[in-house]
Amino acid sequence: MTRESDAAAVAGDSAMVAPPCAMVIFGAAGDLTKRLVVPSLYDLVRAKRLPEQFRLVGVDLAAKTAAEWSQGLSEMMNQFVVQGGGEFHVDQLDQAAWHWLTDRMTYLQGDLNDPGTYRRLGDHLAELDKKAGTAGNYLFYLAVADRFFSVAVSGLGAAGLANEQQGQWRRVVIEKPFGHDLASARALNADILKTLSESQIYRIDHFLGKETVQNVMALRFANGLFEPIWNRDHIDHIQITAAETVGIERRGKFYETTGALRDMVPNHLFQLLAMTAMEPPISFDADAVRVKKAEVIQAIRPMSEAEALQNAVRAQYAAGAVLGKPANAYRQEPDVAPDSATETFMACKLNVDNWRWAGVPFYLRTGKYMTRRLTEIAIRFHQAPFTLFRGTDVERLHPNWMILRIQPEEGIALQFAAKRPGPTVMLDSVSMNFAYKDHFNLAPSTGYETLIYDCMIGDATLFQRADNIEAGWQAVQPILDAWANNPLQNFPNYAAGSNGPTAADELLARDGRVWRPLD
Ligand code: BG6
Repeated sequence: MTRESDAAAVAGDSAMVAPPCAMVIFGAAGDLTKRLVVPSLYDLVRAKRLPEQFRLVGVDLAAKTAAEWSQGLSEMMNQFVVQGGGEFHVDQLDQAAWHWLTDRMTYLQGDLNDPGTYRRLGDHLAELDKKAGTAGNYLFYLAVADRFFSVAVSGLGAAGLANEQQGQWRRVVIEKPFGHDLASARALNADILKTLSESQIYRIDHFLGKETVQNVMALRFANGLFEPIWNRDHIDHIQITAAETVGIERRGKFYETTGALRDMVPNHLFQLLAMTAMEPPISFDADAVRVKKAEVIQAIRPMSEAEALQNAVRAQYAAGAVLGKPANAYRQEPDVAPDSATETFMACKLNVDNWRWAGVPFYLRTGKYMTRRLTEIAIRFHQAPFTLFRGTDVERLHPNWMILRIQPEEGIALQFAAKRPGPTVMLDSVSMNFAYKDHFNLAPSTGYETLIYDCMIGDATLFQRADNIEAGWQAVQPILDAWANNPLQNFPNYAAGSNGPTAADELLARDGRVWRPLD
């Protein structure tokens, strides 16, 4: 894994400049390109990570010139500066950096279903190799709907664009959703592996681009303090939360067939679970890390249909108010059926059946339109014995928590009991807090910079291997099946702007536990 200091990045350490290459974005006119991919490239230019010979080729259906494409992107970048919004925040655009990038943009109109598109792309790339020195190294970024993943990969293969020879590399970045269940993920893997070798495939999960997620490994394995107590002897249970205050944001069509479980759990929440629960890898080598991550996900105990129905809760938001603004019910959103059975919230209890975690439940929850935006991993330690405090004014002991705050207010907190000053024995729960912003000068980032740069330098540590993806789907498949076989009648069942449905509270109450408060 490549993690260098920001100071070195700003200084433009030549060792950190990516090798000459052309990056091709399929879906050049799409939302992802505008919101994340291009702003991240701009950040990489500012950090001096891209080589002089870098070229960016946009491919999309719409007929336009390179100038029109880059003009549209310029307008969007300027809009980010003026209005804010999105994942990209800057007060001012560095015009020199932006022009550096736009000067390197070309555009090719093409239909991904048409083999001619890939032939023309091949000719174009060969020309860039000659004129710009891109050296035959190509990074193909599939920022398109998932139905095009296979088509695009086989199109590249048929045009000879996936062949690596004489030290040239050809890599393909694949966005989520990677399949919609275990069978489709397996089929997609099998399909793309006909054309590409595993080492050429970079399956993105943008949670791994978050510094706070990467830091979970550093926290656990770079400190002598925590790992000895990081197991069932000391940990009571773990709560993983990804609560959002956004709704489905004009994505009704996508969300109707996806739902909260598919959208967030086998990918993002399982990344958090894997980072928290994996065994120590022997190095930062991509495969050493990924093998440990796959193992822990594979250790999630399979559930029968009855267990899945008991251990997983689904819910859908009704109208309400989020952060003081009125919000429509999910069923009133554009492109959503008036009787939709899609869940916008899910919670579940999982058991990781290995020596470290047997008997330690992992509770996961995620939802749209919740009361507060919060992504965190909360580790609850065993209660201390009470004997010593019998006969004092202390009625109960406060639990110890370690909270890894992924976003916002990135940091780590450790909660423990302290004696309240005074003549009698009284306890209070206090917290030691580490906030990233107090210690590190974080460069503006969308979270994609590291991921894109890592593709260019061939570091796959932060990407999902086929077995990681399939393990994720395998673990949630019993829930998907149980829900499909047992449609729920009581949607909607939580108000927009709330903490979620009562059924989620009951899930923990059955075990004598409660969720950490969101508000
Ligand atoms: C995406 C999901 O993958 O992750 C979205 O499709 C979700 O529905 C988003 O809002 C959450 O990411 P982040 O980085 O905003 O927590």
